[in-house]
Amino acid sequence: MCGIVGYVGGQSALDVVVAGLKRLEYRGYDSSGVAVLADGGLAAGKKAGKLVNLEKELVGRPLPAGATGIGHTRWATHGGPTDANAHPHLDNAGRVAVVHNGIIENFAVLRDELAERGHELVSETDTEVVAHLLAESFSSCGDLAESMRLVCRRLEGAFTLVAVHADEPDVVVGARRNSPLVVGVGGGEAFLASDVAAFIAHTRSAIELGQDQVVELRRDEGGSGGVGGAAGVSVTVTDFHGAPAEVRSYRIDWDASAAEKGGYDYFMLKEIAEQPKAVADTLLGRIDSGGSLTLDEVRIPDSVLREVDKVVVVACGTAFHAGMIAKLAIEHWTRIPCETELASEFRYRDPILDSRTLVIAISQSGETMDTLMALRHAREQGAKVLAICNTNGSTISRESDAVLYTHAGPEVAVASTKAFLTQLVACYLVALYLAQVRGSKWGDEVRGVVRELSAISGEVERVLETMEPVRELARSLARKNTVLFLGRHVGYPVALEGALKLKELAYMHAEGFAAGELKHGPIALIEDDLPVVVVVPSPRGRSVLHDKIVSNMQEIRARGARTIVIAEEGDEAVVPYADHLIRIPATPTLLQPLVSTVPLQVFACELATARGNEVDQPRNLAKSVTVE
Ligand code: M6R
Repeated sequence: MCGIVGYVGGQSALDVVVAGLKRLEYRGYDSSGVAVLADGGLAAGKKAGKLVNLEKELVGRPLPAGATGIGHTRWATHGGPTDANAHPHLDNAGRVAVVHNGIIENFAVLRDELAERGHELVSETDTEVVAHLLAESFSSCGDLAESMRLVCRRLEGAFTLVAVHADEPDVVVGARRNSPLVVGVGGGEAFLASDVAAFIAHTRSAIELGQDQVVELRRDEGGSGGVGGAAGVSVTVTDFHGAPAEVRSYRIDWDASAAEKGGYDYFMLKEIAEQPKAVADTLLGRIDSGGSLTLDEVRIPDSVLREVDKVVVVACGTAFHAGMIAKLAIEHWTRIPCETELASEFRYRDPILDSRTLVIAISQSGETMDTLMALRHAREQGAKVLAICNTNGSTISRESDAVLYTHAGPEVAVASTKAFLTQLVACYLVALYLAQVRGSKWGDEVRGVVRELSAISGEVERVLETMEPVRELARSLARKNTVLFLGRHVGYPVALEGALKLKELAYMHAEGFAAGELKHGPIALIEDDLPVVVVVPSPRGRSVLHDKIVSNMQEIRARGARTIVIAEEGDEAVVPYADHLIRIPATPTLLQPLVSTVPLQVFACELATARGNEVDQPRNLAKSVTVE
């Protein structure tokens, strides 16, 4: 939520910052703004709406050229998406500018204090207090990094802050608590950003920042480079009390083109198309020459995994749906009881956890606050936490006992697609690994599933090649108000995922149900010509499940529903009850979501396009939800 960029170097700060914001716009697009240090002063511009509005504003009212600057793209929390509430926020003298991601919980008290001391605050945001507090501190200590430390010690809540001061034209300062901020360094320049995508076009050398740390980037011709700095620029990291902090440098392993649309109209289309590779990449290096699993990065000893007597999966949104499928795989392959819980609910019910509980936290961004809080709670109770995460160096991956990275590459579209499929792969890997370590499956059985999993990437490719009829169908339904989704077993989370995609992209009433629940109430929703998507389990798995869903199809068709049936090739029993039939390759029962989800992603994307909606940036949403 909210994208932040800071820059010190030799190029036009405005160009670098605006280009960085373009790459971070997926984080929020309610408003945007920039500030540049130039000619001994500070110049800022900001505008409500998408970044393009700011760009137009800057053409009409150009800022002076400078090589130090900050920028922000906003997902509104405190105060509506207006020009006045857009970041950066300035102090009354216009010498300090600050951008912020997160929520400052004690802002009201701080604002009242500032008002008493004569400060005039002009926005409804929680952020503005920081600009005024920084200005006050700077006037006594004359050092922006020290001012930031002093101010951060007074703040409650979660925040990433990045600030500049006109009296320190070569300096950008950042701070973080429970909200993301990474440093990029190279070629005499340094960057601060919510996500490496903002500076990947300039450097692939990054530095992770820990919790409660302040970082100073300083143009430093001929200087030493500081901690992790480079010639021409120094990077200094401390805690909130000024003690030097240890930092970890790392190399970003994807290049700038990975964060480009690559000829597609939308990132979502590109990311859907990348799924076969993402699935294959997530398996890479995790299968040994004998076909068994080697999850070296899972640093939880096998002896501990053998003692696990309960697994709890915590996640939000799409990642939660992956977690629901993980439960079925874990329980089936390992016979360990497994619960999957919405991360936002988890800690508030006082869950029963101990050292024999394995908690699996699934998150694409690795920054989702609800999931982070859930895993912290789990660790406090003595449970071991394994993260399944797509973002190297993210808070969730750093705070877990172990991480299994999904290798989806950057996912930019707000609607999650390739991250979901790779989360599923990672969940299957964890489930099979537990089965391997505990001996709940024979070695040849594990190797058999691993072989089937390895073949899935090709099957996803095949599904993608047959999507034109799905697109056509989606366009024909553009004027409908409601679509329902039904599934059973692994098809139920897929139904929920299909409905979530349609809600967030097409802004339609879309609901997913366990097909068996229909007769307990939701069947009353069925009316003439209502589209109902039915995800049919493999008839080669538990035939009773298949037979039951065929009955459910008959029940809804008898009441006028228009059935859109997703069924595997060769399943002829569904044909009489399908108004539209979408074929998917036959896969083992538990692995079916890897192929059955794909048509639903394409369906939602096309329907949203037909309704004239913004596919990559749906209204009211942000990709990375860093507030609770
Ligand atoms: O980054 P995370 O995987 O933790 O994000 C969790 C959800 O916010 C996310 O999956 C969300 O539901 C997607 N926009 C759905 O497409």
